[in-house]
Amino acid sequence: MSDGVFDPVARVFALDSLGKPVRLRGWVLRTRSSGGILFLVLRDRTGVVQVTGRRDALGDEAFTAAEHVQIEGAVSVEGSVAEDRRAPDGREVRASRITVIDAGEPFPIFSDQTEEFLLDQRHLAIRSQENVAIFRVKAELLRALREFLDREDVLEMTPPIITGNAAEGGAEAFEIDYFGRPGYLSQTAQLYLEALLFPHERVYALTPSFRAEKSRTPRHITEFMMMEIELAWCDLDGLLGFIERMMVSAGHAVAERRPKELTALGRPPEELLALRAPFERIRYAEAIERLKKLGFPVEFGSDLGTAEERALTVESAAPLFVTHYPRALKAFYMLRSTDDPRTVEAADLLGPEGYGEIVGASCRETDIARLKERILEIGARVEDYEWYLDLRRHGNVPHAGFGLGVERVLRWMLRREHIRDTTPFPRTPSRHTP
Ligand code: 4AD
Ligand code: MG
Repeated sequence: MSDGVFDPVARVFALDSLGKPVRLRGWVLRTRSSGGILFLVLRDRTGVVQVTGRRDALGDEAFTAAEHVQIEGAVSVEGSVAEDRRAPDGREVRASRITVIDAGEPFPIFSDQTEEFLLDQRHLAIRSQENVAIFRVKAELLRALREFLDREDVLEMTPPIITGNAAEGGAEAFEIDYFGRPGYLSQTAQLYLEALLFPHERVYALTPSFRAEKSRTPRHITEFMMMEIELAWCDLDGLLGFIERMMVSAGHAVAERRPKELTALGRPPEELLALRAPFERIRYAEAIERLKKLGFPVEFGSDLGTAEERALTVESAAPLFVTHYPRALKAFYMLRSTDDPRTVEAADLLGPEGYGEIVGASCRETDIARLKERILEIGARVEDYEWYLDLRRHGNVPHAGFGLGVERVLRWMLRREHIRDTTPFPRTPSRHTP
């Protein structure tokens, strides 16, 4: 067969294609033959269509070859578009020729297999229609976030992944042997984005973030994608406004561009279209009061864990900002509040429906003495942060930023129980293959 032009499967469903010839190629989702007719359900990146082939039209040899194609085998098809009321979407392709590209071996994945088996087979499981939908939405979410940042005149930067200091707290960093010296896999690009902010004022980076946390929870993975933004001349109010606009814009874009996938995954797109700014904002102290009323044994200074965060939004369809956390619970670089020195100018955005923290945000401390004090308090060495402290010595200005956990946002948008579903090859304490 020549290298002629192939049609996308979606072409079959165009208004003007009925009765027209098409040439398709793709992978076989399902197959069945009976009484001299073969049914193949074919998938390509644009859609899924049923193909029927009759033994008398294809010829004995080609029919037999096509009959032996396994699930996920690859074929090309020439035929014409016909109406078929029983087929989903009302169209099918009647094949005049089916060419087997790779008949394939029996596909190991079918229904009712255990979660562990499917994770072992993840390199093949990602082909399922459910996973196709999940990763189409993820791509759309990333596109929407980038489009928003582009409109806001925020520049994309490429900070390093290998670092010499562990920014968010040494205990949770993956250490590597860097030519005989200790190195770390990045937990956050923030410190580098802060450096890049001075020449560019508004910067962002989408990078993998690594956390050596042994926590086996439905919302922790050891490698995740973080979208981090750093803005000069920004205070907490401006920062939260920016985050709100970004979340609303991304939620609406995903709902408008992937309604079918969202619906199939159990999230009616209208629920994302209903997102509106501003989001409710409460201080940490107020969150503690709410939790006490709900019977949690918490007081000012208690960390908000999974259960506490869940309780704060489980009844709500909108995200919630919790602001002004106690200093001791948060990272060393956060700006001390002027009205209450116990707290920092920080906020976590909690996802609706009890999904918990999806964004971590703060104004950055500009006072060198306080930064040094906090570095010592967390048990780190000031020398390791000298380059970062230099940023406070040359044109020190107020600035703020945040990190959005891409998989956390997706877990909420797609209503997934477990975060591992939102990344093609999840890394957890017990798994780093395939
Ligand atoms: O709150 P975190 O730790 O904040 C930072 O790393 C800041 N330096 C970011 C910044 O201001 N530039 O992480 C940010 C977000 C969290 O809100 C959460 O959504 C996600 O990253 N996240 C995780 N996602 C999946 N698995 C994990 N283990 C995660 N840890 C954090
Ligand atoms: Mg956080």
